[in-house]
Amino acid sequence: MSATTTYPNYSPGLEGVIGGISTISEIVSETSTLVFRGYDVHELASKGTFEQTAYLLIFGKLPNQSELSQFKETLSSEREVPNAVYDAIRALPKSVHPMDMARAGFAVVAPFDPDYAAPATDMDANRRKAVRIIAKASTIVGNGQRILEGKEPLKPNPSHSIAQNFLHLVNGDEPDTETAHVFDSSLSVYAEHGFNASTFACRVTVSTLSDLYSGIVSGIGTLKGPLHGGANEEAMRMLLEIGEPENAEAWIHDALANKKKIMGFGHREYKKRDPRAIYMTKVAKELCERKGMPKWAKIADILENVMETEKGIYPNVDFPAAYAYYSLGIPIDLYTPIFVVARVAGWSAHAVEQLSNNRLIRPSCIYEGPGQLPWVDIEQR
Ligand SMILES: CC(C)(COP(=O)(O)OP(=O)(O)OC[C@H]1O[C@@H](n2cnc3c(N)ncnc32)[C@H](O)[C@@H]1OP(=O)(O)O)[C@@H](O)C(=O)NCCC(=O)NCCS
Repeated sequence: MSATTTYPNYSPGLEGVIGGISTISEIVSETSTLVFRGYDVHELASKGTFEQTAYLLIFGKLPNQSELSQFKETLSSEREVPNAVYDAIRALPKSVHPMDMARAGFAVVAPFDPDYAAPATDMDANRRKAVRIIAKASTIVGNGQRILEGKEPLKPNPSHSIAQNFLHLVNGDEPDTETAHVFDSSLSVYAEHGFNASTFACRVTVSTLSDLYSGIVSGIGTLKGPLHGGANEEAMRMLLEIGEPENAEAWIHDALANKKKIMGFGHREYKKRDPRAIYMTKVAKELCERKGMPKWAKIADILENVMETEKGIYPNVDFPAAYAYYSLGIPIDLYTPIFVVARVAGWSAHAVEQLSNNRLIRPSCIYEGPGQLPWVDIEQR
């Protein structure tokens, strides 16, 4: 049930509260559009590459050919991570969720950044850090996953894109062009999304003049929850539980009757359709057909129809991303860490923006505890 309040100036969950001014992305709920610095996310995902999207988010414009070449060269040269990161991941229990591994990986890599000691308000240093974070994310998650599976990390191939690097490290082979393209476009779609919970957490962290990496670690911890990034994994587990299209209708009616939250549906900002879901649904359903797994698209159709007619609630991006990644053979536990590989670009852009015009983020709360009580000595309590 939604939280309610009788206080006039308080909105539970800060729903509808303006938390800041940003030039990074705009969500227009009424028209189901999402733009990154003026560019529609559908175009960025279908016509561009994740590298171009990341450049746009960090530097505020789409790169020209020579800027893109230079950016890709820097990303390639910054892609490897110190062995200390791998050693720390090896020290974790093998059963940890890869989000815990990603959070540990970024905590360990932070002090190795050559700009780590630069003041939090040094914008050039922050952008250099942002590029290193974007470059290293797919290696930390991809090789971190290998270590959790008891395998050795692989050396990243400098000619790979970020999408190819991730797929290569996770699967140990050369990704085919179609897989790399679908995966790459999903990274663009996931890269940024306004003042969502993890981005807000990142901005709160850097607003104390803490460092960019601490902002990323806050972001990862916040993204992990099933009401945020973790929904893509939960959505796939739900589809697997349903199993076959003929089970879907009864399953969803039963779940709704039992007041279950259907993972991958609903959104705080979009009361109609999530534009990222519109794009990813098309990509994911075509992919299911091509990979010989049409049943996931069929089950998705049924759930979407029932959710729309019964609840007026539509899928968010995590729903189609779930069966797209499943069709690509990616382990389910990696779906939220993939979100990290993409969202580090948005988090970093927001951290840079926050620090370029910083004011400590420190809201107030309404006190509902007891009034003033007299002190009682411990022997008398
Ligand atoms: C994303 C989400 C947290 C947004 O939540 P919110 O703005 O706080 O909205 P609420 O959770 O208060 O939901 C409002 C109403 O819609 C219903 N609702 C929202 N999402 C629902 C879902 N996925 N399944 C079933 N009912 C849902 C709620 O039960 C509530 O109904 P009620 O008022 O009768 O209790 C919520 O839609 C959700 O939990 N979705 C599933 C998790 C998910 O996919 N997260 C990824 C987001 S990108």
